[in-house]
Amino acid sequence: MSLATDPLWYKNAIFYELHIRAFADSNGDGKGDLLGIIPKLDYLKELGVDCIWLLPMFPSPLKDDGYDIADYYNIHPDYGTVEDFKKLVDEAHARGLRVITDLVLNHTSDQHAWFIESRKSKDNPYRDYYVWSDTDQKYQETRIIFLDTEPSNWTYDETTGQYYWHRFYASQPDLNYDNPVVADTMIEVLKYWMDMGIDGFRADAVPYLFEREGTNCENLPETHAYLKRVRAVLDADYPGTILLGEANQWPWDLRPYFGGNPDDPEMPGDEFHMAFHFPVMPRIYKALKLGDASDIIQIMADTPAIPSNSQWCVFLRNHDELTLEMVTEEDRQLLWQLYAPDPRMRLNLGIRRRLAPLLDNNRAKIELANSILFTLPGAPIIYYGDEIGMGDNIWLFDRNGVRTPMQWTSEPGAGFSAAAPETFYAPLIDDETYGYQKINVAAQMADPASLFHTLKHMVAVRKANPVLGEGSYQFLRTGNKAILANLRQSDQAAILAIHNLSGQNQTAVLDLSDFAGRIPRDLLGRLATSLPEISTVPYSVSVKPLDYFWLKLK
Ligand code: NOJ
Repeated sequence: MSLATDPLWYKNAIFYELHIRAFADSNGDGKGDLLGIIPKLDYLKELGVDCIWLLPMFPSPLKDDGYDIADYYNIHPDYGTVEDFKKLVDEAHARGLRVITDLVLNHTSDQHAWFIESRKSKDNPYRDYYVWSDTDQKYQETRIIFLDTEPSNWTYDETTGQYYWHRFYASQPDLNYDNPVVADTMIEVLKYWMDMGIDGFRADAVPYLFEREGTNCENLPETHAYLKRVRAVLDADYPGTILLGEANQWPWDLRPYFGGNPDDPEMPGDEFHMAFHFPVMPRIYKALKLGDASDIIQIMADTPAIPSNSQWCVFLRNHDELTLEMVTEEDRQLLWQLYAPDPRMRLNLGIRRRLAPLLDNNRAKIELANSILFTLPGAPIIYYGDEIGMGDNIWLFDRNGVRTPMQWTSEPGAGFSAAAPETFYAPLIDDETYGYQKINVAAQMADPASLFHTLKHMVAVRKANPVLGEGSYQFLRTGNKAILANLRQSDQAAILAIHNLSGQNQTAVLDLSDFAGRIPRDLLGRLATSLPEISTVPYSVSVKPLDYFWLKLK
C-alpha cells in the first residue's frame, strides 16, 4: 500500500531514527526485530512522527552493527524475514507513517560472497568488485575515519599479496564504482527494496564512492554523477520517494549533493532530496554550553541556499558518536573538554553519549536544544529514546552505549523483551538517573508534564505551521549574543523563534518594524503574560534562563 502523495512531503516531516535490534523484541530472544516494531507504530504516530528510518537490517557479521552487509537481498535472521519487512511497511503505511531504510553503497562486509570470491585470486571474476592495489601508498591524501582502530585505509591480503581499500573497518572493503557492473548491481539492490513499497533511503557514507589519485577521495565529480543516476531511477520509477544523504562535510561541500545549479536557485535539485546538516549540530552544543549563539548563526550564514525541492535534515544525536569532524581543532578540544571529560566518552573524532546525559539531564536544556532543532531550516530527526531522555552506557564497546534497549516500561526487561534481561543483546540502562525503572515510555505517557508530552506538543505545533518546514530563515540581530532569534517566513506566515542560551535572564532588542501593528501570538503556550503590539520602534523581549518561545507574527 502506498501513501497519498504530496511529492514534497519530506519538507515538513518529522523523522524518527530507529535501531531494529534495540526497539522491541517480538519473539523473546532478547533482540529487537521487525515484527516487534509493529505494535509500537501507534506510539510513534502519537508522538507525531511521519517517517521512520531503519538502521541496516541485512545479513551481516555485525562488525559494524549491520553497516557491514553480507547479503543485500535478505534480512538478518535476528530481525525476521523479507515477509516481516513487507508486513511492517504495510502496517506503517496503514497508519500514514513512511519508512526509509539504510542503503550502504560504499562498502560490503568481508563476509559478502563478492568479497569472498574477490580475494581468492587476481583473475577471479569478482576481483574488480573491490579496489585492489600492489601498494598501500595510493591515495595518501585520504583521511582515516575510524581513527581509533584503523591504522590505514589499506589492508594487506595474503592470498594474492595485494592490498584492498576500505574507508571504515578493515572488515568493510570498499566497492569499486569504476566497475560498471558494481554501479549497475547497486541500482538493482535499490530497486529490489523500492519494489517493496518503501519510501526511500538514507544513503550511507556517500562521499567516498570513487577514488582518484591527487585528491582526498571525497565528493568527487564521479561520485556526484553516480548519485544523480540513482536519483533519476527514483524519479522515473518511484515518484514520491526520497534519498537522504549522509555526507559528513562542510556546508559548501554538502551543497552539491542536492544537485541542480548552485548559481541558479530556481533550478530543481536532481541528486539528494535531503542531506544531513552535520556542521550545525556540534555548534548547537557549543552554543548551549557557552551561552552564545554566534557559531550557529555563522555556520548557517556559511550554508548555501538549496533548491526548493530539497530539504536539510537536522539532528541532535544519532546512533554514531556525536561527530566533531566539522569543527576546528580548537573547538574539538573545547567540546571534548566540555562534553566528554572522561576519555571513555570519546571515540574517533567524537563523543559517544546520548542527548540527555550530554545536557546533564537538565530538562530545560533538553527542551531548548529541541526547540532550536525544530525551528532551524530542515526536517528534524529524533533518535529513538531521546524523546524520553534515555541515558547511555559508556562501558559498552564502540558506539553500542547509545544503542541500548528502548525503555518501554518499568517492568523487568523494560517492556523491550520477554527474555531474561541478562540474555539481551545489550544490557538495559538501569542506573539511578536513567534506569528503565524511572525513564520509560509508559511513565512519560501517563504524565502530562513529561518530556515526551512536551516534545509531542512541539511536534504538533511545528506540523500545524508548515512555515517551519518550508519557510525562509533569517537570524535577527538581538543585541545580545545569548539570544538566538530565528525568523521563519513565507508569503502567508511568519514565526519568530526566540531562545535564551544562557542561565541568566536576558533581553533581546529586535527590529520587528516589518510586522508593526501585529500582536505576537505565543504558539507553544509558554508565556505567562501576553506580549504588546509591535510598532516601528525596537521591540524588547525579556527571556528567562534557558527559556524559548515561538511567536507567530503573521
Ligand atoms: C555511517 C554510519 O552512520 C556508521 O554507523 C557506520 O559505521 C559508517 N557509516 C560505515 O558504514
